[in-house]
Amino acid sequence: MTTRVIVNIAELTTNDPTLGDETPMGRLFDAAMVLDERQVLWVGDNASAPDADERIDASGAAVFPGFVDSHTHLVFAGERSDEFEARMAGQRYDGGGIARTVDATRAASSDQLRAATRRRLHALRAGGVTTIEIKSGYELTLEGEARLVRLAKECSDEVTFLGAHVVPTEFARDRDAYVELVGGAMLASCAPSARWADAFCDDGAFSVDEARSVLLRARDAGLGLRVHGNQLGDTGGVALAVELDAASVDHCSHVSDLDLEALSASRTVATLLPGAEFSTKSPYPSGRRFLDAGATLALATDCNPGTSYVTNMGVVIALAVREMGMTADEALWSATRGGALALRRDDIGHLAPGARAHLVVLAAPRSAHVAYRVGGAAIRQVLTD
Ligand code: NIG
Ligand code: FE
Repeated sequence: MTTRVIVNIAELTTNDPTLGDETPMGRLFDAAMVLDERQVLWVGDNASAPDADERIDASGAAVFPGFVDSHTHLVFAGERSDEFEARMAGQRYDGGGIARTVDATRAASSDQLRAATRRRLHALRAGGVTTIEIKSGYELTLEGEARLVRLAKECSDEVTFLGAHVVPTEFARDRDAYVELVGGAMLASCAPSARWADAFCDDGAFSVDEARSVLLRARDAGLGLRVHGNQLGDTGGVALAVELDAASVDHCSHVSDLDLEALSASRTVATLLPGAEFSTKSPYPSGRRFLDAGATLALATDCNPGTSYVTNMGVVIALAVREMGMTADEALWSATRGGALALRRDDIGHLAPGARAHLVVLAAPRSAHVAYRVGGAAIRQVLTD
């Protein structure tokens, strides 16, 4: 295997607290690292960098782990900019527009969906994303959801079945039948392509009992669990996620002190999605409050046409720093190691020897430039395997 040495790294963030400055960022200054095509082999002082087959000169740049975007709805057709405009003029988001994307997605060919998904994926990757989670949830029929998880699987191994997104209009008078379909035949046809199951447990979507029934069946089918919770109200999604030992509960825009206590005592990561607050003109949750309570945070784009048509993790980090009381380091950690924990992965999100060779070389000396130059932190190179 070809080995590469990256020299002249001004600031190397490993996210391994046993390395470098021994903070959670595990930071080395004036550093170098050696990788092969798959994994990190060595990190240390620039002066003691070993030889390798290829040499990359970082020329005084910052290097950090590739972003882990642990929450996206990347496979969809159509757009809803009119809803965005209405919200900027004061209208509330209530999830009602999901049905419009369901109609557009059902009408799209697989080739159209594939091309649109790849365009969005390309934008995310160019912005430093090296691992992405992708959900279904915009067809809500047995064949349709199976098609979406298959298309998602073409782009990532981190695929999530979200049949429990909302009750589609054709089941409006018989939601119990839809919940049965999702936890029964639909789950059975999607499980082979999925690693995770998710449920939107909130006002206007699924109740705690409905979400629990789907998620328990998904767990029996061998899937890991995730929850969309507490986006629109303090609706019990966080408590459900903790009860089920879900890997992540996402949104968490309205959480009680009891929710925070439960999160902090659990392995469940709280994933904050500030693109959604931006695009729905809603108050941002305080990341500081979660961190002070001892919860583990991830940050992700939530890329979707309704609440967060965001294809750049740098923007998410900038919002977390500007609006959510997080430091630039906390936001970077949450977008990398936090995202990895939200996917229960220990091979990504850090750069200790043995980690996957997924990293970003910035065209700037400090990783804080990601937040500082909002939307414009020049990424010189994204390495992935
Ligand atoms: O994560 N909250 C539920 N699902 C998406 C939005 C879906 C939509 O409006 O199309 C979200 O915000
Ligand atoms: Fe979402």
